[in-house]
Amino acid sequence: MSDEIDTSKPAGLSRRGFLKGLGVGSVATGLLSPADLKEALASQGGVVGPGELPVTLKINGQERPLKIEPRVTLLDALRNRLDLTGCKKVCDRGTCGACTVLVDGQPVYSCSMLAVEAEGRDITTVEGLGTPERMNAAQQAFVHHDAQQCGFCTPGFVVACTAFVRKHPNATLDQVRAGLGGNLCRCGTYAGMMLAVVDAAKKGGA
Ligand code: FES
Ligand code: FES
Repeated sequence: MSDEIDTSKPAGLSRRGFLKGLGVGSVATGLLSPADLKEALASQGGVVGPGELPVTLKINGQERPLKIEPRVTLLDALRNRLDLTGCKKVCDRGTCGACTVLVDGQPVYSCSMLAVEAEGRDITTVEGLGTPERMNAAQQAFVHHDAQQCGFCTPGFVVACTAFVRKHPNATLDQVRAGLGGNLCRCGTYAGMMLAVVDAAKKGGA
């Protein structure tokens, strides 16, 4: 969902906040002396890494402790360290939405968030949305409208659509079309997906 992806509110470390704090221009042009750089880093809470550090992520209601390097994205942590492979790595640069997860209820590109940033937040992956026996409204509607083909982008869509319909009950087709802007499907199942989201929105995403 293009208007809802939000990776700008990290709990602690953030690449954006880090660069802002340092002054990107100064760093880029090398104007900071080593002493200034040390001071600037200290003001941001000090340096962590490059080695692994203990992090506990709350995922689908479970505390998942792990040791991880601070450079590791949330997507890689989920897929490679925690065996939660529903979120997919496609573009790995925040453009396709295949990696979408919910962080505190908001859809986020997990390829564009560091795992350490996600500590202390509520993370929901597609695995945590429902089960085959108890699907949520978006999942049921995807099945009903046959809104998947190869299925590679589908989990990200389902997660993003779940957040969308919770926020926009009774959304119109135009609102759904705009809301789907943050996720791409190469198979061209948009027609079915849009109908599915309109249906799910009527049910409030429950
Ligand atoms: S893999 Fe994250 S947006 Fe494409
Ligand atoms: S279902 Fe195949 S790319 Fe989206």
